[in-house]
Amino acid sequence: MALDNSKQIDFNAPGLRLFLDSAEPREWERFLPLGVFYGVTTNPLLLQRAGQACTLKNMATLSGQAAKLVFRELQMQVWGDTSDEMCESGRQLAQLAAPGMEVVIKVPATEDGYQVARRLAQSGARITMTAVYTPGQVLLAAGFGAAYAAPYLGRMLDAGQPGRDIVLAMHEILKTTGGASRLLVASLRQAAQVVDLAQLGLDTFTFGAAVAAELFTSDLTDQAAAQFQAAALDMGGQK
Ligand code: G3P
Repeated sequence: MALDNSKQIDFNAPGLRLFLDSAEPREWERFLPLGVFYGVTTNPLLLQRAGQACTLKNMATLSGQAAKLVFRELQMQVWGDTSDEMCESGRQLAQLAAPGMEVVIKVPATEDGYQVARRLAQSGARITMTAVYTPGQVLLAAGFGAAYAAPYLGRMLDAGQPGRDIVLAMHEILKTTGGASRLLVASLRQAAQVVDLAQLGLDTFTFGAAVAAELFTSDLTDQAAAQFQAAALDMGGQK
């Protein structure tokens, strides 16, 4: 499907944003044409899981593949042993934006990461501070003016932390301070986690293909759809 390049993106527009957390083009091709995802998020771990090289050459190939699909924003993460190397990968990734497909650069929310993020933001990049675990880190991301702060809910729970409460505290901070950063809840393992947080007013989530498939699955909907078609055929609804 062709992209509608006439769409003007209002980055501050309120409302739901769903991201597919995947570096696997087959998963992009399955879910993005369904039209519900605002964007795609990737990182080196997701590249590793998908067997995709973490090289600028491959990122250019992947973003070219992604740009043919229906969504607005591709988030890609810096890598490098030094701040300079991280900045360089981030600058090159930022250049992979295409008509109708904005790029956001993800940077781990370490002290060094902020140095990198500042340099990238000065050259015009929009930033996601990622691998966020504490409400204080969200305060910092908002102070910085990051477009997104991405807490890792599932990993908090794995570490025995009260992840839901922590994520809700982060949400509260952004709500009460009027911070413009969006809380991009990541490391979601079940559809129920997304639904639970959405009921509490969180509106920006990234999850992988398994959670996406879970959200799309309902036996009762499948049964109803089959009944509709059977009734249509019964009542002359032939081609
Ligand atoms: O985007 C977050 C993700 O890469 C971490 O998720 O499932 O490895 O905890 P997970």
